[in-house]
Amino acid sequence: MAVWKTISTSVEMTEKLGEAIGKAVSSGDVITLDGDLGAGKTAFTRGLARGMGLYSRVTSPTFTIVNEYNDKNGIPRLFHFDTYRLNSCDDFYDAGLDEYFERDGVCAIEWSSVIKEALPAERIALSISGNGNEREITVTFSPRFEDAEKKVRETMEKEGMRFEDLGM
Ligand SMILES: Nc1ncnc2c1ncn2[C@@H]1O[C@H](COP(=O)(O)OP(=O)(O)OP(=O)(O)O)[C@@H](O)[C@H]1O
Ligand SMILES: [Mg+2]
Repeated sequence: MAVWKTISTSVEMTEKLGEAIGKAVSSGDVITLDGDLGAGKTAFTRGLARGMGLYSRVTSPTFTIVNEYNDKNGIPRLFHFDTYRLNSCDDFYDAGLDEYFERDGVCAIEWSSVIKEALPAERIALSISGNGNEREITVTFSPRFEDAEKKVRETMEKEGMRFEDLGM
């Protein structure tokens, strides 16, 4: 497991981090996004979609809980959740949303703490905080994402991002 903290100084930088992670993930992977309203969870997901080679405009799924993004062949590749309006994990299961974890695509989940009992242990977890243009982003990569972690870090170091290790 790798955990690091970094600072994003612009929305573009947060999107770039998303893009780098989007290039490093594959079908079945889960990314969780937590942090206050307006922290940058959707901005990150916009970059994630781009990194995955999906070029539709990513918008907030707040009212639909989940938005699906297809590749150029019309195959859904990214499932973008916003569980803010769910009360608990029960709502998630009752709506059958856990079935998305079995689907052939990547799940990105805003406000994942609402459904924490339903989340797989293997995931990339982001926690975003801050205001103005500066965001502190803590990322935890579970063991399965060891290779992804190296790739992402290498890419972002080239973009001038600095990392502070919080633990392995
Ligand atoms: N460094 C930064 N990273 C991300 N967003 C930033 C940054 N600096 C400024 N912003 C601004 O913060 C806002 C982030 O909005 P975004 O919709 O991505 O947040 P969110 O976490 O998805 O919010 P919500 O909980 O309402 O879904 C945007 O208006 C963006 O331009
Ligand atoms: Mg959002």
